[in-house]
Amino acid sequence: MRPDELDTALNNLAAEHRLRQRAILHSPQGPHVRIDGRDYLAFASNDYLGLANHPALKTAMQQAIDDWGVGSGASALVAGHFAIQQQAETALAAFTGCEAALLFGSGYAANLGVISSLLGRGDAVFADKLNHASLNDGCLLSRATFRRFRHNDVAHLEQLLRDTPAKTRLIAVDAVYSMDGDEAPLAALLQLAERYDAWLYLDDAHGFGVLGEGRGVLFDHALHHPRVIYMATLGKAAGVAGAFVAASHSVVNWLINSARTYIFTTAHPPAQAAAVLASLQLIKDEGWRRLQLQRHISRRHLQSGVGGCQPAFGLAVLAWRVCR
Ligand SMILES: Cc1ncc(COP(=O)(O)O)c(C=O)c1O
Repeated sequence: MRPDELDTALNNLAAEHRLRQRAILHSPQGPHVRIDGRDYLAFASNDYLGLANHPALKTAMQQAIDDWGVGSGASALVAGHFAIQQQAETALAAFTGCEAALLFGSGYAANLGVISSLLGRGDAVFADKLNHASLNDGCLLSRATFRRFRHNDVAHLEQLLRDTPAKTRLIAVDAVYSMDGDEAPLAALLQLAERYDAWLYLDDAHGFGVLGEGRGVLFDHALHHPRVIYMATLGKAAGVAGAFVAASHSVVNWLINSARTYIFTTAHPPAQAAAVLASLQLIKDEGWRRLQLQRHISRRHLQSGVGGCQPAFGLAVLAWRVCR
């Protein structure tokens, strides 16, 4: 886009009612928010369990700021990896049933980092058509051949895998699709990964904290396997920010050595890890939050008459909030 074209392009977006603008919030996230001096019921966020403004997370973060300060100084490889972040990684690995975990600044950064560190030119990545944009961007960045299969169409994926000459293959999917709330056919995908010698990369941004008693889809579907690499975000059900990848020690050590979005970025604030630990405790202890969420999901399900797939969790949260 040339400098003189920007304003015209923005005006065109506005004329088509597609101009993105930010609502300025004057309140924390929660069932009620304040925007431009008016109170609204919040009908849009991924704070599925109502933890984003929870006192336990706030206290943990405040205490950790006293203990560890605010900034992290540099990349963890340059300025040091905080003990509190190591503690969070150990807890996340144990909670998801994996050997090791690695914190990333965001889910976007994790998806870019993992896919581009495992694949390069001559390799191939297979992605569901409805994958999140960050997975697609990771696929593009990797320079591997990027093939997309029809949404949840295992036969189409198999056809693409059968035809590929690539040595290293990776299947990348959202475990729970962010727009419709339906799940990927994970057991069938793992079978294909085994049959065609591929990695299976699961983005569980919308399942972590919610499915498998909060432990995510690996637990929900008994999917622990050396070929599976798990990623979940911490800014949705966990109520904080950032993301983690959980896998074998070898995968995590490889990421520490090669994921550019881990290496060449300032580590996130140490206090964030303290909030994540507090959040994990609530996810474990307060199963009633998930029950409440599921009740509201089924309620909306009945109201909308949607059959066959769950409504997006984001929509379910609306009901959660309205009814609390
Ligand atoms: C499926 C999925 N993956 C990845 C992301 C990116 O995560 P983050 O917001 O932590 O960058 C999101 C949403 O933000 C998402 O919905």
